[in-house]
Amino acid sequence: MSAEPAETALPPTQFVLFGALGDLAWRLVVPALFDLYLAGRLPKQFHLIGVDREITLERLAERLGDGVRRFSPRGAQAAAEWTQFTRCLSALPMDLMDAAAYASLRDALQGAQDDTVIRIYYLAVPPRLIAPVASGLAGVGLQQDPAHTRIVVEKPLGCDLQSFLAIDDTLHEHFAERQIYRMDHFLGKETVQNVLALRFANPIFEPIWNRRYIDHVAITVAEQLGVGHRAGYYETAGALRDMVQNHLLQLMCLVAMEPPVIYDADDIRNKKLDVLRACRRIRPEDVPAFAARGQYASGWLQGELVPAYRNEPGIAPDSTVETYAAVKLLVDNWRWQDVPFYLRTGKRLAQTVSEISIRFRDVPHNAFPAMTGVNSQPVRLVMQIQPQEGVIIKFIAKEPGSPLRLRPVDMHFSYAEAFERPSPSAYETLLYDLLAGDATLFMRSDQVQAAWELLMPIIETWLANPPPDFPNYAAGSWGPEAAELLVARDGRAWLTPTYLPQPRC
Ligand code: BG6
Repeated sequence: MSAEPAETALPPTQFVLFGALGDLAWRLVVPALFDLYLAGRLPKQFHLIGVDREITLERLAERLGDGVRRFSPRGAQAAAEWTQFTRCLSALPMDLMDAAAYASLRDALQGAQDDTVIRIYYLAVPPRLIAPVASGLAGVGLQQDPAHTRIVVEKPLGCDLQSFLAIDDTLHEHFAERQIYRMDHFLGKETVQNVLALRFANPIFEPIWNRRYIDHVAITVAEQLGVGHRAGYYETAGALRDMVQNHLLQLMCLVAMEPPVIYDADDIRNKKLDVLRACRRIRPEDVPAFAARGQYASGWLQGELVPAYRNEPGIAPDSTVETYAAVKLLVDNWRWQDVPFYLRTGKRLAQTVSEISIRFRDVPHNAFPAMTGVNSQPVRLVMQIQPQEGVIIKFIAKEPGSPLRLRPVDMHFSYAEAFERPSPSAYETLLYDLLAGDATLFMRSDQVQAAWELLMPIIETWLANPPPDFPNYAAGSWGPEAAELLVARDGRAWLTPTYLPQPRC
């Protein structure tokens, strides 16, 4: 039996959860903490202080317990464990805008005299509260001791470059960069981390991972979900800011980065930053050739007629917010010169599927007769991010018998089949790393800034030129025609996402 690498015991931790009664704490943060608890991976001494405006311990435990039952995979069956977990909870009512109120937080935290205690301030709050909380903490000295103090912020980190810099400046005014953990939950997904394992733990891919063998890369993050109950946020964001600026660019960086010297936070993040820096700037006049946007009309999805975006609750009837974005990026370096990276994401699309498709070049000379169909499907490597998790190599094989016929086949690796245990949720992975002080899977300030810089010409051009044709794709389709054109202009087409057969039970 192979032994699991042992995890080092985590130091005692005070976890201050701002916005403890909010959606994020309820749906994602606490269910993941509870999963870590069930797996025996929380620090032995762990104290969660829930902070919110009108909060009592009873209300906190009830709200978080509800979230755990709904969203933690084992939560519904773990009532006794949840009761034990609630012993580490306490509640602190606070108005986060009131600087004087932070003294009560400092007093609540000072009970622990142990100077090895790690303090984590988790801001599960709207972005407008990031600056007041950071300043409030600093006002009572709670930001001190960088080795033992961490602050966590979630997206959206601004709505453009300028607003990001404003948030970041406030954070940096009080906290050192190594104390700041910026979440991008995509980076916690097992399959996303596997991109690095696939590329750099196997010698067979690196020699062909370049312009000589790769024709283009397509990254798709498609969702069947509509805007749901998030109208207020989404109307100020749209698909480009909500998904491309963070998740899709992060995926692209993992595909395009150079091999790290060592698997550590700085080296990996430096290499990713190099990719963003190497991306060719898009001039405003070139935006139509490099980006496409869309908004869903009503349409049929899984047998149901779903409303248009403009008819969703809370959405302006003339909204020009994009629910679909596609971008073409070129990376100006030796490895990737002239290899386009096509990124697309949208809501209310035909399938919920995220995958990275590496399309290899056609054979330089086709020795087979035309009717054998050798290029009926290109050779590609597909990294399936979700819902199916795996890697597929699509290649050409000879059909049995004669006459000679060639046909595309799949060779696949599936997580579910290869490993007996289920993958941890992205939040579980990231929260563990946060507790352990490993920032590798968190975004560094310069990366976020570079991502905003790259997309600003598109954001500004779209803002200045309202879309004349919205809504321009039907719910249940693969998006607007403009996105097809984006790749068709280069003589290419989006590759249909791939599905693995479901593992047999
Ligand atoms: C979030 C976006 O960051 O990611 C949502 O704000 C999106 O709009 C979600 O639905 C997708 O994440 P996942 O993990 O459900 O694929």
